[in-house]
Amino acid sequence: MQVIQDPTLLRSEIKKLKQQGAQVSFVPTMGNLHQGHLTLVKAGQQHADISVVSIFVNPMQFNNQSDLDNYPKTLAEDCAKLEQAGVDIVFTPSANVIYPNGLNAQTFIEVPGMSDCLEGELRPGHFRGVSTIVTKLFNLVQPDVACFGEKDFQQLSIIQQMVTDLAMPINIIPVATVREASGLAMSSRNGKLSADEKLIAPKLAEVMNNLGKSVQSNLENYKQSIMDASQALDQLGFKTDKIHVVDPITLAPLNAASKQAVVLMAAFLGETRLIDNLVVNLR
Ligand code: PAJ
Repeated sequence: MQVIQDPTLLRSEIKKLKQQGAQVSFVPTMGNLHQGHLTLVKAGQQHADISVVSIFVNPMQFNNQSDLDNYPKTLAEDCAKLEQAGVDIVFTPSANVIYPNGLNAQTFIEVPGMSDCLEGELRPGHFRGVSTIVTKLFNLVQPDVACFGEKDFQQLSIIQQMVTDLAMPINIIPVATVREASGLAMSSRNGKLSADEKLIAPKLAEVMNNLGKSVQSNLENYKQSIMDASQALDQLGFKTDKIHVVDPITLAPLNAASKQAVVLMAAFLGETRLIDNLVVNLR
């Protein structure tokens, strides 16, 4: 496995491999890797010959400096996991190399509308930071396929829309959320939970699953079901942040033509904000 910091070297290594006819899979990450990330890597490997993973904590997508400063950095452990997983190239650029002129002197990529609602409403500029870095990484890696987790549902929807709108020749592969045996969606943030909070955390998925069933069986009443779910979470010791039920393709409110709904959950457990989501069929 090669660990490459320099974009020029990355480009030339990938060019060589592509000239030999290799198909390239790509998984962008911010490191602190867990089984969820490794499942994306595996999905990519099933679709291509060469597997590239990036580890870059992208300053442009953070809304506050302390979140950025406190983002866990575990490069040595991450590289050991990726080597074990059979990854060919890990790209670990520095922020100076990616943003030589700082964060403001930049061309941005933005998927308006989809980026401003839901999580984007709480985190202005976040998804612009995500779509910009993902585009830049796509340009450097030139992958044939790229994998994104359904765990970050809105991010995945935005990337799919961006690739379609800009005719990027990349096959985006969605990967189902990987969960602990308890049902808790794996996340770098789970490491911040106390022992007591870890016992409560899986109940987020339980409340979400119940809400999904209510939406399916009684769609007209879905706003009341959201309020019931919010109350249930608060009683369990969470502080509900947002619960939305929207169309999974447009992320807009459900309408008579919606064939599916996505339940998007965000709740605090202590200081830690947990998110999860579930897609349900409506017909
Ligand atoms: P990061 O949070 O490191 O996540 C990298 C990828 O792993 C994303 O596609 C995310 O959805 C996926 N992932 C995380 N937890 C998962 C789980 N439990 N099951 C399945 N997939 C999971 O998302 C980002 O980084 C950044 O925004 C990035 C796309 C790298 C741009 O900076």
